[in-house]
Amino acid sequence: MEQVIIRPFLPFDIPACAEIIALSLTENDGQQAAQDMIEGFNCPNPNYEWCQRIVAIKTGKIIGICGAYHLDTHPKDHAGICWYAVLPNERKQGIGKALLAESERMALEHGFHYIFAWTIDSAISYYERNGYASISPESIVPKESYLLARKLLK
Ligand SMILES: CC(C)(COP(=O)(O)OP(=O)(O)OC[C@H]1O[C@@H](n2cnc3c(N)ncnc32)[C@H](O)[C@@H]1OP(=O)(O)O)[C@@H](O)C(=O)NCCC(=O)NCCS
Repeated sequence: MEQVIIRPFLPFDIPACAEIIALSLTENDGQQAAQDMIEGFNCPNPNYEWCQRIVAIKTGKIIGICGAYHLDTHPKDHAGICWYAVLPNERKQGIGKALLAESERMALEHGFHYIFAWTIDSAISYYERNGYASISPESIVPKESYLLARKLLK
């Protein structure tokens, strides 16, 4: 298998990452992701108190994105997983798991004790397989669809 590198997200990654989100979720999500990546890049921002994204690279091409973030509306010890996807033809090789694990590690290193993910119906079991369980959506705003979380362990 060709080598996959995980490196920090950079501003010029935005178009490729938005494209992966659009392909993996919806066109609208791709546009929303591009906007979030611009706003969430230059922390501190009025909403993003912390945000760190990463990308997976194979033969010079971005094939996956993930990251962790904290908004001022979140519980203090909870970080969230943000815009997370792997290109369809690069899935099932462990890239998603590696991106998720690295995002969790960054959140733990930044002092958070829990990580949550707002997700779509089709990815609930993926998060469950990675140690996440449903939590009350009342605790995290703004509300989206399904909410799962896990405790971060050293
Ligand atoms: C979720 C996602 C990032 C996983 O990426 P990946 O690189 O395929 O992940 P991994 O290779 O580490 O893990 C693959 C394993 O998870 C399973 N899996 C992948 N997507 C799944 C899903 N939606 N539900 C349940 N299991 C899933 C695979 O069957 C595979 O299982 P196996 O190891 O027993 O073969 C990728 O499927 C994706 O981009 N999905 C669309 C966007 C999305 O759902 N994002 C997250 C929620 S917003």
